[in-house]
Amino acid sequence: MPKLAIASDHAGYALKEYLKPLLEKLGWQYDDFGPHSSEPVDYPDYGFPVAEEVARGKYDRGILICGTGIGMACVANKVRGVRAALCTSPELAELSRRHNDTNVLTMGGRTTPFELAERIVRVWLNTSFEGGRHKRRVDKITSYEKSCIRRKP
Ligand code: RB5
Repeated sequence: MPKLAIASDHAGYALKEYLKPLLEKLGWQYDDFGPHSSEPVDYPDYGFPVAEEVARGKYDRGILICGTGIGMACVANKVRGVRAALCTSPELAELSRRHNDTNVLTMGGRTTPFELAERIVRVWLNTSFEGGRHKRRVDKITSYEKSCIRRKP
């Protein structure tokens, strides 16, 4: 069973809770990295742990939800090995998988109606990377990340 890590901040908490039953229904085993209430928190505190676990391969994918999805996308894309996309439609979710091999999906709990978010997740989890010419491009992102390790700041 593929593994997924999910987290949010307070603004994404309700959507996170709404989506959890769907993940199991779609055949994904998930761990919830919190928060466990809608008390105000800071999205980096919840986004980085998920992004790091996905990057080190403990989870196949991650889903991060804040108010807009923007903060979580900024956080996740700082982590080497993560390709995160803020998706606002099933079409973007599908293309982000087919062309960019995204391993983290971010969404806005305040900006995306829950039923639309459900369709986005369904497509994002069920779409494969196309490879081919897209792999060449994704490999260039990975090479850049590797070159940054060697480069002095
Ligand atoms: C929290 O109020 C909000 O700023 C946060 O959830 C997120 O939208 C940031 O990008």
